[in-house]
Amino acid sequence: MCGIVGYVGKEEAAPLIYGSLGKLEYRGYDSAGMACIANGSIVCKKDIGLLEEVDRRNHLVDMPGKTGIGHVRWATHGSVNQTNAHPHRDCKNKIAVVHNGIIENYKELRAALSLRHKLVSETDTEVIPHLIEEEMEKGESLETAVLHATQQLKGSYAFLAISTEAPGKIAGARKDSPLVVGLGEDGSYATSDSYAFPAQVRQYAFIDEGEVIVLDQGGISFLDSSGTPRQKEFLPLKISSDAVDKAGYDHYMLKEISEQPETLRCSLIQDKNYFTELAMDILRAKQVVITACGTSRFAALVGRYLFSKVSKKFCDVIMSSEFHYFADSVDAATLVIAVSQSGETADVMEGVKRAKEKGATTLSIVNRPDSLLARISDKVIHINCGPEISVAATKSFTNQLAVFYLLAYSMVNKYDWAVERLRDISYNMFYSINGHGHQIKNIAEILADRKDFYYIARGINYAIASEGALKLKEVSYIHAEGMPAGELKHGTLALIEKGVPVVAICPNDYTFDEMLNNIAEAKARGGVIIGVSDRFDPIYDHWIKINQVEEIFYPLVTVVPLQQLAYYLARCCQHNPDKPRNLAKSVTVK
Ligand code: AGP
Repeated sequence: MCGIVGYVGKEEAAPLIYGSLGKLEYRGYDSAGMACIANGSIVCKKDIGLLEEVDRRNHLVDMPGKTGIGHVRWATHGSVNQTNAHPHRDCKNKIAVVHNGIIENYKELRAALSLRHKLVSETDTEVIPHLIEEEMEKGESLETAVLHATQQLKGSYAFLAISTEAPGKIAGARKDSPLVVGLGEDGSYATSDSYAFPAQVRQYAFIDEGEVIVLDQGGISFLDSSGTPRQKEFLPLKISSDAVDKAGYDHYMLKEISEQPETLRCSLIQDKNYFTELAMDILRAKQVVITACGTSRFAALVGRYLFSKVSKKFCDVIMSSEFHYFADSVDAATLVIAVSQSGETADVMEGVKRAKEKGATTLSIVNRPDSLLARISDKVIHINCGPEISVAATKSFTNQLAVFYLLAYSMVNKYDWAVERLRDISYNMFYSINGHGHQIKNIAEILADRKDFYYIARGINYAIASEGALKLKEVSYIHAEGMPAGELKHGTLALIEKGVPVVAICPNDYTFDEMLNNIAEAKARGGVIIGVSDRFDPIYDHWIKINQVEEIFYPLVTVVPLQQLAYYLARCCQHNPDKPRNLAKSVTVK
């Protein structure tokens, strides 16, 4: 879950690499580092902390050299300290490597290499520069050394290597971790994510597994797994830089919450015939299993409800990290729907690979158009919410929901009707987001000292209660639980005492009366009730008034104030909601 960048060209590498690393911090932000080649030597600076902090202490952007690599880390192997930060180097400080992924056979490799090399960190990555060192000492070029090194690695990797023996060159490779290359007028770039390319990059290309890339002053070349050069198609890069900056907001999270009316409309840019075809696939499948993690799983739970309620098609949702324990039940007559914003979550990827092995048909619902998941699935739906930078998923969630509405209504030939309803909801959302901010901020200020929050709902909104609780935990570090309101009395009610906030999602629908009963039970124990509803009741201590919509669409309007509540509570607790501790946006480890 790290981000890597490389640049070779006419310009000083450090400021360009630094700019790109800033856009990759969503992938990891516990340490950062860069290595450049200047005057025949490797200059390497790395440290713990956010990229900006590392730069403040070490002046990363001032590093000289026109060839360089950089890294932002989310620690997997080895604690967060300066030695374990990337880049890692060989014994003679002639080779430097940045890596994203996990080298599964690193213990064996370290044991063997330690007999001849000095390894200083606790990381899996450190084996790579030493493997390259051994190859280059045999007289191999940097790219051949990289190729031979990859033949000894097991696990997942995307890495870039530089060497003083080849000062104007970067070589790299990938397996199960993302890496793309881009051509600009000033030079050649490689990065974990095409969002991180600077504006001058107009064309980019994917790197296939087993390929080695070489970036030098002449451009970018590709070698296949036997070392033979191969031609590659470059694609035009169409990312607006506005989409990846904060546009005046304090945080990406708030910006992305506010974008939802517009992004929801983008989710509707779909091909109706394709959805009809997908609806037939769902209806025909002997069984349908949806797999996802975190927020995407809560979207899947809403999807399950919609399939059942609208299209009378029962399906199950299995969290991807548990998928392989159910793989025995997956067969060629199964349709597996994988939901993932990033399209690179390791657990989801693993589930889909398992499903394919079992002969199942796979459909992925993704945001990142060029993601690994999109590329391995039989069919893909793009949710089109644009870059989501904040670690907390917000706009991707509502767009995932929209896609589930479209699928469910396609199954009953009401695609156009659903599009119209969703468009109406997007206007509703706009008024709600702009009207609620101040009130929710006040509620957050009042409740910021509470240690536990409980979120309750019934029916289709149960998943929204869970999502509200996840959002709060993730960005404010306050303990929270979301559950069906009817479950409260089966245990959790024991934890409700004076002053404990209970967020009750109780739209004015078929759940309202029973919700009020459950709320009364919590209130009787001293709970502070935050009612998220279009219907007032004096039992609420705080009423967040939502707009009335057709009852099946309530999740789209109930979730937004919960996102805002999490955001403002994080602010009150003085946490950066965009970079929660211990987390990263793309979870590429199992
Ligand atoms: C959501 O706020 C979280 N950051 C997290 O639960 C996320 O939804 C999960 O890791 C799945 O990510 P994906 O959608 O990219 O697969």
